[in-house]
Parts: sequence; structure tokens; C-alpha cells
Amino acid sequence: MTRYSYAQSTPYNRAHHWFTVVAAAFVFLLIIAGALVTSNDAGLSVPDWPTSFGSLYRIPPMVGGVKFEHGHRMLAEFIGLLTIAVAVWTQKVDQRRWMRVLGWSALATVIAQGVLGGLTVLFYLPPAISTAHATLAQTFFCIMVSIAFFTSKNWVQPPATVITADARSLTTISVLTVGTIWLQLIMGAAFRHSGIRLLPHLIGACVVFGMVNWLVIFTLKRYRATPQLATPATVLLILLGVQIALGLASYITRYFWSTAAAPLASMVVSTVAHVACGALLLATCMILTIQIHRHAEPDIVRASAVGRTAKA
Ligand code: HEM
Ligand code: HEM
Repeated sequence: MTRYSYAQSTPYNRAHHWFTVVAAAFVFLLIIAGALVTSNDAGLSVPDWPTSFGSLYRIPPMVGGVKFEHGHRMLAEFIGLLTIAVAVWTQKVDQRRWMRVLGWSALATVIAQGVLGGLTVLFYLPPAISTAHATLAQTFFCIMVSIAFFTSKNWVQPPATVITADARSLTTISVLTVGTIWLQLIMGAAFRHSGIRLLPHLIGACVVFGMVNWLVIFTLKRYRATPQLATPATVLLILLGVQIALGLASYITRYFWSTAAAPLASMVVSTVAHVACGALLLATCMILTIQIHRHAEPDIVRASAVGRTAKA
């Protein structure tokens, strides 16, 4: 049994895979819809939950902030249904136990996310709950992207393993980079919901910049000829550049340009794009980490030879 046999133990199911891809794409749209609620200051436009203006099913007049807040709730309910379908379908067709667990975990996450959304309304948007809601949203997106990835043809086929002495270091760096981006997201969300100052997020941006560059350079140096790794590494670098530019635009439009009581369109666009690009950055780094773990095989012969020399 090879290290990767667990990954190949299910046949490719085209319909199931494409359904999970569409579901993940809808979650991305929901992140944009949620970010529009925050950027338009529309979080309390619908004051009750789980009802909306006293009804569970009636659609209120979609005017002002209500169109963002209620629109976001409707999309969230639709995604809740899609996630139930993903969990049940995965349970039925996927022979890998860990994948079935992942499907049910996605469902548990979307339920927790809905409850956090409701609680933030009921408690008038406390920074801690709104920040947790923003963070769990992107974590949920990563779970849905990983389900789509693990059901792909590329995944169920054997990997193009590349042996290198540095495989373990690269795996460690990639895991640390995902962790750093996730912490950076929490600090960005805490700042956006006025829980903390901007400085930790700016320091975090420098750390993320360093980690992503280290990871990308390391990956491209060793695996330029392996597209499964080189492609996500290149996309990650591009997203980092875009994300930093959008971060600067968010800062300028929110703090130097904003004068009127109504949110500026330029601020809404840049902050929503910064949130959305942050989600893509996190998901891409997660995919790269999974690919590194899958394709980079440690050079055991060389490592043990080095160990023997060290002992001698
Ligand atoms: C189920 C999946 C859901 C996802 C993936 C999701 C995602 C998001 C995202 C990404 C944001 C923006 C956070 C930010 O920009 O910092 C947001 C904001 C918000 N969401 Fe959700 N949401 C979901 C469900 C709900 C539900 C069911 C409610 C019910 C009330 C809700 C209420 C809110 C509110 C009030 C905000 C604005 C928070 C603020 O401005 O402080 N969400 N959501
Ligand atoms: C380098 C990587 C960066 C990542 C991954 C990142 C990620 C994020 C995320 C995910 C959020 C919103 C969280 C949420 O509520 O859902 C956010 C908010 C924010 N970030 Fe960044 N960010 C980065 C760099 C920067 C930089 C360089 C700046 C420059 C000043 C910046 C300025 C901001 C501002 C101002 C907000 C709040 C926007 C608002 O008030 O609506 N970010 N960041």
C-alpha cells in the first residue's frame, strides 16, 4: 500500500464533482454578498432572526440596506440546501470515509455559520461575533473548495510524485503560510468590525508577504516542471500582489476619501474586493499545501544517508 492509496480509492464521478464545484462557486458569491452587507453598513437592516420582519418565508421590500441583508440571508439559505445535497451525495457515492466526514463537516460548518450570523444580529453586531462570522465564512469556503478538489479527476488519479530532499521543509513552510494567512484574515475582520486597530493587520501583511514569497520561490525552484505545484504557486503570487493593492485601496477609500454619511461606492468596491481576494488567496494557499503534501515525496534514501553520516 503506497502513501497515496487512500486518495485513489474512489472512482471519478463527474456529476458529483461538478456539483461540488458549483456549490463552492456559490459560496464565493455568498462571501461577496456578506461583504456587501458589512461595507454598506446594512447589518441591522433586518432586525430579527431567524425570521425577517416577523416572517420565515415572506420576502420584505428589497430597499435600502434590506436588499443586502435579506438578499444575503436568502443566498445563505440556498447554500445551506446545496451543502445538505453535497453531504448526502458524498455519503452515497464516495467510498473514502474521510471524504464522507468532510461532507458532513461542511454541513456542520454552514449551520454554525448561520447561527453566528443570527447571533450577530440579535446582539447588535458585537465585534467578536461578526469577526467569527467573517472568519468562519472563509474557512467554510476552504472546506467546499477542498471537497471540489478531492472529487476531481486530477485527484483520484495517481499523483506525479517528485522526490526531493527538501519535501518536509516545503510541507512545513506551506502549512505555516496557510496558518499565517488565516490569522491575517482574523485581524482584518477584527479591524473591519472595529474590534482592534489596523496595526496588527499591517504587521500581518508583512509576515504574509514574506511567507508567501518564501513558499512560492521554494516551490518554483524545486517544482517548476510540475504544473500541479507550479500553477497554484504562480496564482498565489499574483493574488498576493492584487490583495496588497486592494488593501491599500480599502484604506485610502475608507479613511481619506469617506466624508458623507452614505458609504462611498469606491470604498464598497475596494473593501468587498479585498475580502473576496483574501478568500481566494487563502483557498489557493490551501490547495498548494495539499498538492505539496501529495506530490513532494521526501528523499528517504538521501535523508537516511545524511543521518548515518551525522551519527558516524
Ligand atoms: C450560511 C452561510 C453564510 C455565510 C457563508 C455568510 C458569510 C458572510 C460574510 C463573508 C460576511 C461579511 C463579513 C465581513 O465582510 O467582514 C457576512 C456578513 C454578515 N452576515 Fe453572513 N453568512 C452566512 C449566513 C448568514 C445568516 C444566516 C445570517 C442571518 C442573519 C447572516 C448575517 C450576516 C450579517 C448581519 C452580516 C454583517 C455583519 C456586520 O456588518 O457586522 N449571515 N456574512
Ligand atoms: C497581505 C495580505 C493581506 C490579506 C490576506 C488581507 C486580508 C484581509 C481580509 C480577509 C480582510 C477582511 C476580513 C473580513 O472582514 O472578512 C481585510 C480587511 C482589511 N484590510 Fe487586509 N489583507 C492583507 C493586506 C492588507 C494591506 C497591505 C492593507 C493596507 C493598508 C490592508 C488593509 C485592510 C483594511 C483597511 C481592511 C478593512 C476594510 C474595511 O474597513 O472595510 N490589508 N484584510
